[in-house]
Amino acid sequence: LSRPLHWFHQIESTNAYLMERCHELVKGETCIAECQTAGRGRRGRQWISPYGSNLYQSVYWRIDDGFAAAMGLSLVVGLSLAETLEKLGFDGIGLKWPNDIYRFGRKLAGVLVEIKGSPEGPCHLVIGFGVNIAMPKALGAAIDQPWADLTQESSAVIAKNQLIHALHENLLKDLAQFELSGLEPFLPRWEALDLFIGQQVTLTSAAKVITGRYLGVDSEGNLLLEDTSGERNSYSGGEVSLRLL
Ligand code: ATP
Ligand code: BTN
Repeated sequence: LSRPLHWFHQIESTNAYLMERCHELVKGETCIAECQTAGRGRRGRQWISPYGSNLYQSVYWRIDDGFAAAMGLSLVVGLSLAETLEKLGFDGIGLKWPNDIYRFGRKLAGVLVEIKGSPEGPCHLVIGFGVNIAMPKALGAAIDQPWADLTQESSAVIAKNQLIHALHENLLKDLAQFELSGLEPFLPRWEALDLFIGQQVTLTSAAKVITGRYLGVDSEGNLLLEDTSGERNSYSGGEVSLRLL
């Protein structure tokens, strides 16, 4: 845990900060901000990031063998955060493919992994995550889907610094295991927290909406769907958004 930590009151986006400096960072180097003025979600969406007690954190990482490994990595990140929160005593935690963390069926946290590099060679990765700790109600109203935080319906209480420490330590351990053994050892753990397994869902892409039964995650981290005719297909996280039917 001896890597540099860049801590700001306010920044546009902790992901953007590390992406702009990716050539000069060491693995595990971290940026945390108390608020973000342009917090980003997947595909240009906005991450609501008010000042105060929520966590906005990004971690620099590097992989040597091209883009392909990054999909698995982003699943591992969501899983790692979810398992740490469970270990800390927070209940109602679950995962929505590819990398959203839910609490009591509402969105608690999101993961955004951004990549710069070549398809085959070394890649710079920035692993960003936002975790709602105590979202002010008035500001949460700007979120256009049901949301959760760690304070609602909680018996567990934790200081923000302790949370950061626990998440970071577990994440670095899981990333090291992922580099050694890939996604395989994480799959049963993912399935144990997967909220939608066996359920009827829709997948939305730019081109169309597909309906079917969600069968879980394949060995590469793609989503497996059985359509109404019984045919099975896989979809990658960049392609589609998953929703319960
Ligand atoms: P997908 O299935 O494609 O990931 P998503 O709705 O989870 O869909 P993301 O791009 O992953 O979309 O996340 C951005 C969305 O998360 C926003 O459009 C908003 O609905 C929601 N959101 C934004 N800020 C917060 C927050 N602080 N807490 C919870 N949810 C948020
Ligand atoms: C999502 O669910 O779409 C992912 C949201 C990721 C939000 C975090 S907050 C810290 C980091 N900096 C950003 O701009 N985004 C990520």
